[in-house]
Amino acid sequence: MSVCVHDAAQILRPPSDGLPYLRHDRAGELRLDGGALTAADGQITGFEADAGAVIQVDGAGCAVVPGFVDAHTHLPFAGWRAGEYAQKVAGAPYEEIARAGGGIAASSRAFGESSDEAVLAQAGALAREMLAHGTTTFECKSGYGLTVDAELRALRLAGDLGERAEQGATSTALLAHAVPAGYDADSWMDAVAAMLPRVRADTRASALDIYVESVAFTNEHLARMGELAQANTLALRCHVEQFATHRSVPVALAHGARSVDHLACLHPDDVAPLAGAECAAVLLPGAELLGAEHVAPARALADAGAICVLATDANPGTSPVLSLPLVIGIAVRRYGWTVREALLATTLNAAWVLGRSGEAGSLEAGKQADFLLLDGPVEHVPYRFGHNPVAAVFIAGRPVHVRPDAAWRIGGAT
Ligand code: NIG
Ligand code: FE
Repeated sequence: MSVCVHDAAQILRPPSDGLPYLRHDRAGELRLDGGALTAADGQITGFEADAGAVIQVDGAGCAVVPGFVDAHTHLPFAGWRAGEYAQKVAGAPYEEIARAGGGIAASSRAFGESSDEAVLAQAGALAREMLAHGTTTFECKSGYGLTVDAELRALRLAGDLGERAEQGATSTALLAHAVPAGYDADSWMDAVAAMLPRVRADTRASALDIYVESVAFTNEHLARMGELAQANTLALRCHVEQFATHRSVPVALAHGARSVDHLACLHPDDVAPLAGAECAAVLLPGAELLGAEHVAPARALADAGAICVLATDANPGTSPVLSLPLVIGIAVRRYGWTVREALLATTLNAAWVLGRSGEAGSLEAGKQADFLLLDGPVEHVPYRFGHNPVAAVFIAGRPVHVRPDAAWRIGGAT
């Protein structure tokens, strides 16, 4: 199947082909010239109009951007925790809710009580909602299992979700999320080490993840997770500096982490080393806003040339958010970022975190034809806050979601 988007007002392209990521001090180099994009057999073929392509897309007034990549979600999970949100809004801290048996433990109970089909039905519906908001690749995490068997089940379901969803999905084994009943943090890390052969043999996990916080694990456990990741050729990711400053970033960098996520309480001395490292700063402004967390030093990280990423952190606790356009809107306002910075952080750099930037994350010939038709210029994405700008979603050159009011734009060969 061949497709041509013609007469687009803007097409977001990298400054050159083949970049694995683009540091944020170079975000201004992203190009937004108007024109055409063509694809055939699932891949982008070029940027000249082709009247012979089977599918013709009228791009007048529209921007064409790469499909969004959500590099930090907690799908699949079971149920929601709206009651906790009301408690938080009334002033209860996350730690207090967690220590009273809410938080991650509550979602773990719900996960254990839900059938595989029920978990996949909920996660599948959320994946479709993400698709309608332009997400063409997303990360799944385990972490609500809290037993060896339940974590393996979560990773198996993550793989099943990736099979069923339109999008490409990756799996991260968040094996140290909360300390399970019957263990202390040290003995649970022993259990994690012992289960890794099964993780590698029975699941598609490509990364390990850990939550460093007073209610969870320490920097020593992070270092151990780093050693386990290296020994098992898995990427290291970590939830750090979310509610308090623990100086986890130097530990993560020393262990070659692919990303450090959250960073609302990042120590100022850790900005420059992080910005100089080949490690992404994954920022989660939805969680920051809804949890009344501190705001990550995103302007400083971008200016210093970090590989910045924005993600939803979609989860039933801190961020029941699925829309990357909404996340872009929050980031631009609260971080003082440009639209190019926000788009870079939700496309190429996000794909790099998932090990997918060779085939996804930017519009260049030879990459998979995952792209979005937006219903206006890219500047409208943050500005029309809360509006879903995604008129059509193409994955591998196939229109997999078309908003009814944009259907007239997609037709046959002229
Ligand atoms: O990324 N901070 C730790 N983990 C999740 C929250 C999990 C939950 O509350 O269910 C996060 O914010
Ligand atoms: Fe998270």
